[in-house]
Amino acid sequence: MSGPIVIAVDGTAASGKGTLAQKLAEHFSFAHLDSGSLYRLVALGVVDAGGNPGNETDALAAARAIDVNGRDNVRLRSAAVGDAASIVSAHPAVRTVLLKFQRDFAAHPLGGAKGAVIDGRDIGSIICPDATAKLFVDATPDVRAHRRWLELTQRRAEPDEAAILKEIEERDRRDRERTASPLKPAPDALLLDTTHLDIDAAFAAALALVKPKVEEALKAVP
Ligand code: CDP
Repeated sequence: MSGPIVIAVDGTAASGKGTLAQKLAEHFSFAHLDSGSLYRLVALGVVDAGGNPGNETDALAAARAIDVNGRDNVRLRSAAVGDAASIVSAHPAVRTVLLKFQRDFAAHPLGGAKGAVIDGRDIGSIICPDATAKLFVDATPDVRAHRRWLELTQRRAEPDEAAILKEIEERDRRDRERTASPLKPAPDALLLDTTHLDIDAAFAAALALVKPKVEEALKAVP
């Protein structure tokens, strides 16, 4: 393969794909893109403009206006914004705007890195179908809800685990059932179930799966 190397890390909500992608990027000194944050930014843009996430015109206007540098804040990671993100992400026009950004990132990883790790829902299937290595990460809904609960306890007083589970299941259902780029493993994705794995064990398993392909591809990069 020529050109930058891409590791696609797709998976269900709160499956740990973002943390795995970040760790893989650090391991290989690749650039990392959390594509979910792009959809979350679009959702936040719609809400802040007083628009309706289900309205394609509102969502498209927000997608065209996102500021990718304004990413890491508490509201962006909230359940409400995650829910709105899964609504705006079903609009094909929104996906088209963000597709270009993601493909550009894959073709020109930040900082001149030799590769990119991109996590999301459709990276291996639609955004980078020729990715060097593809993972699809999953865990049982209960375990994912508990992990998200733990994450939110760092930021908020008393998150409700039952409500988080409901929100995650609803979001997965919507992501799987939409027509535009539904959540499903690419045919050549390697499946990683992290239900019984802590983050170190999940990272070791992910690395074992992608390493042979990535090392082979690195040999071809000057
Ligand atoms: O971190 P978490 O797994 O909860 O969600 P996220 O990756 O931040 O994604 C939020 C929402 O954006 C998802 O529920 C999807 O509806 C949407 N999304 C998408 O459609 N395609 C992507 N490549 C990434 C996220």
